[in-house]
Amino acid sequence: MAHKLPDLPYAHDALEPHIDAETMGIHHGKHHQAYVTNLNVALEGHPDLQGKSAFELLIGFDALPQDLKPAVQKHGGGHVNHSMFWTLMSGDGGGEPDGALADEISAAFGSFEEFKSAFTAAAGGVFGSGWAWLVVDAGGALKVTTTANQDNPVFTEGSLPLLGVDVWEHAYYLRYQNRRPEYLQAFFSVVNWAQVGAHLEMVRAGDAANAMQSWAAGQRANTEARLGELMD
Ligand SMILES: [Fe+2]
Repeated sequence: MAHKLPDLPYAHDALEPHIDAETMGIHHGKHHQAYVTNLNVALEGHPDLQGKSAFELLIGFDALPQDLKPAVQKHGGGHVNHSMFWTLMSGDGGGEPDGALADEISAAFGSFEEFKSAFTAAAGGVFGSGWAWLVVDAGGALKVTTTANQDNPVFTEGSLPLLGVDVWEHAYYLRYQNRRPEYLQAFFSVVNWAQVGAHLEMVRAGDAANAMQSWAAGQRANTEARLGELMD
């Protein structure tokens, strides 16, 4: 069962003018596809692990064969992070969150604007390639954190991501060149707060496993679809 690129939940130009169609096409169709392809190549010699989702491979990282670990960290991580990232944006997004998410952000950061400043500063401060995240940490508090390359805070610190932004140059270079702060402003114009709020709801329901698995669900669905094709 090969891993498969999940479809974007919208058209390439759905996030225009904030995130341009050409960037979306290359980011999803080339970069994310490359993570999927390279993960499949790495798994060729490990048929016993081919049935696991990328998320499951990362959850079980310590037990993986040593020769497989670098590929799973890079390409499995890239597959997991990007699969989540596409759902965090929407052509109908932007503005501010409401409900419990808005309340918790205000309680943790003082106000939405102060959260936005902290998140933007963290994302702007990532040296080289990586991600910035709004997470629920292991103690249950909302906080902003960052990871390098394709790491995810679930694995680096046991925090559950609610929102993440890709600050690799491939995410913004075509339209914004080196102007990462402009890209981050644009990102806030398309954030799918309903999805972020849904993640918080799952975490607060006390079902962290569900929250994590929601990110892997797309991969599982694709795996099942692929299995279905093979059996037809
Ligand atoms: Fe990316």
